Amino acid sequence: MYDLADKTIFITGATAGIGRACAQAAAAAGARLIICGRRSGMLVTLRDDLVSTRGVDCHAMTLDVRNASDVAEAISSLPSNFANIDILVNNAGLASGYGPLHELDPDDVEVMIDTNVKGLLYVTRAVVTGMVERNSGHIINIGSIAGHDVYPGASVYCATKFAVTAITDGLKLDLHGTNIRVSTVDPGLVETDFSKVRFHGDMDRANAVYAKTVPLVAEDVADAVLYVATRPPHVDVRTLILTSVKQSSVTMVDRSGRDL
Ligand SMILES: NC(=O)c1ccc[n+]([C@@H]2O[C@H](COP(=O)([O-])OP(=O)(O)OC[C@H]3O[C@@H](n4cnc5c(N)ncnc54)[C@H](OP(=O)(O)O)[C@@H]3O)[C@@H](O)[C@H]2O)c1
Repeated sequence: MYDLADKTIFITGATAGIGRACAQAAAAAGARLIICGRRSGMLVTLRDDLVSTRGVDCHAMTLDVRNASDVAEAISSLPSNFANIDILVNNAGLASGYGPLHELDPDDVEVMIDTNVKGLLYVTRAVVTGMVERNSGHIINIGSIAGHDVYPGASVYCATKFAVTAITDGLKLDLHGTNIRVSTVDPGLVETDFSKVRFHGDMDRANAVYAKTVPLVAEDVADAVLYVATRPPHVDVRTLILTSVKQSSVTMVDRSGRDL
């Protein structure tokens, strides 16, 4: 087992959902945490909670991963006890809008590509350099089953997650000969704020996504991330795909009820 105690783990998009659950799980394992997101109030609340309940060191950075210069500045000016990042969890991401490609709002297209692809690249670039110098580290990208199969109304979101798959595989090749691990954790339907964000706050549409089925919860994905992160140093879990037992493909979801 790779012991997370006193390891430094940077989780992007930790204010909610999967990222927050990853931060809580990593803190429970004794890790030193760097967390970021755009909503500073939620970030500070999480940091204070992790510090008081888990007794871990936690550095919170209000950061929009879409801003390349802010990302570079934030990572190059980390306090010295947080500077050597052992594990990066590239989680910040979103779907924005839903519908046929030719009807999507161009702003939605931009925000998905800028966050899920370019933001992930900015953070990775800024963090991997130090890992290469130390010949040690682990990049864990949060992809999606939408990075393996497309579904209607989600061409651009799927394209960004296919890009995450390609970036993960390409980074693994680029880091050949180093001791740096590169993984992707690719969930199916997870009940978080994801659909609320996708449908711009329309809770009827968001709730319908999780109706009459049993989706994953954020803690299930965090559990998978912790599994990937804690394998012995010579083991690199390349891709971990997880879905609810009720989901058989991106489009096949059993909606016969919430019973198991
Ligand atoms: N839920 C699902 O069904 C599902 C399935 C497969 C994969 N995923 C992936 O899982 C990841 C997390 O999603 P989630 O389900 O946990 O959704 P969520 O509850 O909406 O959380 C998304 C997180 O990303 C952060 N974020 C978004 N844009 C950001 C930006 N520009 N800069 C920094 N942080 C940003 C948000 O923080 P702020 O708003 O505070 O910035 C928030 O903490 C995403 O990459 C998503 O694509 C989700």
